[in-house]
Amino acid sequence: MLKIENVTRRFGNTIAIDNVNLEIPQGQMVGIIGRSGAGKSTLLRMINRLIDPSEGSILFEGTDVAKLRGSHLRNWQRDCAMIFQQFNLVPRLDVLTNVLLGRLNHRSTIKSFLGIFSREERAMAIAALERLDIAKTALQRAGTLSGGQQQRVAIARALMQNPKVILADEPIASLDPRNAQVVMESLRDINEREGLTVVTNLHTLDTARHFCERIIGMQCGKIVFDGGPDDLTELAARRIYGADGMKDAFSEAITSTSISRGTPKPIPELEAILAAR
Ligand SMILES: Nc1ncnc2c1ncn2[C@@H]1O[C@H](COP(=O)(O)OP(=O)(O)OP(=O)(O)O)[C@@H](O)[C@H]1O
Ligand SMILES: [Mg+2]
Repeated sequence: MLKIENVTRRFGNTIAIDNVNLEIPQGQMVGIIGRSGAGKSTLLRMINRLIDPSEGSILFEGTDVAKLRGSHLRNWQRDCAMIFQQFNLVPRLDVLTNVLLGRLNHRSTIKSFLGIFSREERAMAIAALERLDIAKTALQRAGTLSGGQQQRVAIARALMQNPKVILADEPIASLDPRNAQVVMESLRDINEREGLTVVTNLHTLDTARHFCERIIGMQCGKIVFDGGPDDLTELAARRIYGADGMKDAFSEAITSTSISRGTPKPIPELEAILAAR
């Protein structure tokens, strides 16, 4: 169970998340929708601790992850894998190595990493790629893959963390409709078969309705809707998006405006590997 209690996040005078309360049972597939600036990314990034809440608690299985430091924090970030709109692969490394990078959080020092990956880890990486139907790309440079394939590599990398939760911030916003569907089906399949909790920000209402069992609607940092796909009537959509936002709610052309802010911190271990090549 993931439990968000009275969480607020301010950026200067902006209140990005305004006293949010939310409970997500293990194994649920949740879509978060809302207009640009509603606070969707901020909420996901706080759960993963890419940013810290200004107030409130984020409890996972009873532990307040908002208070974790050092190795405990790294363990939590391993338990909740994050997937980004822009994939965040290393384009000049091959697919297999990109997937193996998901094991970084399982290793304590740079040294252990530089001592190449074990046979088990390689087998695990190939299995993850097979799981996502892209094993044949294993030796290709990640940068040469289509967007949909790259996002599936990112999901395979996330699986290497053995996570309990997958957080995806607009995972299909940069993809064409066909690739978008394949990626959403992969996430749903992982949710159903592995019982992982999946929380994903989505920019269109239809995708959320089609793939998620529960939909959270946000507006100005608050949750204004929480229900199943069938509860998401036009009236409910108007409450989330506002009358003038209804066009955006159904338009595949509108994507996140905050791509540049989504870039995570560089990983020192990764920099070391790249420098050693
Ligand atoms: N690092 C930051 N510094 C300052 N303001 C920020 C920062 N991150 C987010 N905000 C502000 O917080 C609010 C919520 O932003 P957030 O990125 O969470 O929205 P979003 O719902 O993900 O939007 P989008 O659909 O465009 O991705 C916005 O007003 C935004 O400008
Ligand atoms: Mg966002």
